[in-house]
Amino acid sequence: MTNNFKRHRRLRSSAAMRSMVRENKLTTDDLIYPIFIVEGENVINEVPSMPGVFQISLDRVVDEMRELNALGVHAVIIFGVPNEKDEHGTGAFVNGGIVQKATRLIKKEVPELLVVADTCLCEYTSHGHCGVIHNDDVDNDESLTLLAKTAVSQAEAGADIIAPSNMMDGYVTVIRQALDEAGYTSIPIMAYAVKYASSFYGPFRDAADSTPQFGDRKTYQMDPANRQEALREAASDIEEGADFLIVKPAMSYLDIVRDVKNNFNAPIVAYNVSGEYAMVKAAALKGWIDEKELVFEKLTAMKRAGADLIITYFAKDIAKWLNE
Ligand code: PBG
Repeated sequence: MTNNFKRHRRLRSSAAMRSMVRENKLTTDDLIYPIFIVEGENVINEVPSMPGVFQISLDRVVDEMRELNALGVHAVIIFGVPNEKDEHGTGAFVNGGIVQKATRLIKKEVPELLVVADTCLCEYTSHGHCGVIHNDDVDNDESLTLLAKTAVSQAEAGADIIAPSNMMDGYVTVIRQALDEAGYTSIPIMAYAVKYASSFYGPFRDAADSTPQFGDRKTYQMDPANRQEALREAASDIEEGADFLIVKPAMSYLDIVRDVKNNFNAPIVAYNVSGEYAMVKAAALKGWIDEKELVFEKLTAMKRAGADLIITYFAKDIAKWLNE
């Protein structure tokens, strides 16, 4: 009788045995931690829809980054929340912009930390869209010029990686060319190649104050119903010179993470977005789930799906749990 079936449970018999055959493991090397920088002094505002995530002012950044580095997380992605906004999102590309200031400070005080600059205009435009508006829509080609300027000013400030999240067509070409012309040939582009128009970004828009003032982002971000289109988006970014490919959101898009991993030979980054974080936090605060177990399960599933790196608001928690 025992010859008629396979005994899979043999490899699950103890913690040591399970650990030996485990196919995917989450480590601090996999993580990129997002931060939100606001103007002013001594500010630490908890984002209401993201418990444990704070908008912080520049004077708080260095301590925060030292803590992150000591925890073993080596990369941070910076979002700026400026006081002043205008139609062209000027704050994104001025020398004294908030991301540029934060980048300079971090690279001076904690140089070993990798600074990833999110290249977009939505936090800086008065209308909250990711580019310049013409006839009630975002003008692709005019926006590209400003995005290229933004990327170059972020590189000048010392950013190690440029991560354009704007979803304009041709953005990798234009940004690569501008970086190269300015002498930043060795700065990689982490392209938000596959970015869906998702309701999971709601809490981020509270944190970054970047909710569109009219309409939505559906003419530039992807339709969640589409799978083939993700391959076209990733293909053009790779052709144009992207060094990393981001898939965003992550949790409900693991099929896309796997497709992109199987089709392209570049590091794949899953963005575990704000709404995914908020859902877990809310359930944990209610006592409905075991937060630590769930976070490990969820992020390990992203690695299993093919993610090499994960951008996550849980990065510090995970590092603490791993160090326990
Ligand atoms: C900027 C940007 C967004 C996010 C990252 N970069 C918001 C958006 O596209 O509306 C969302 C991240 C998150 O939800 O955690 N374009």
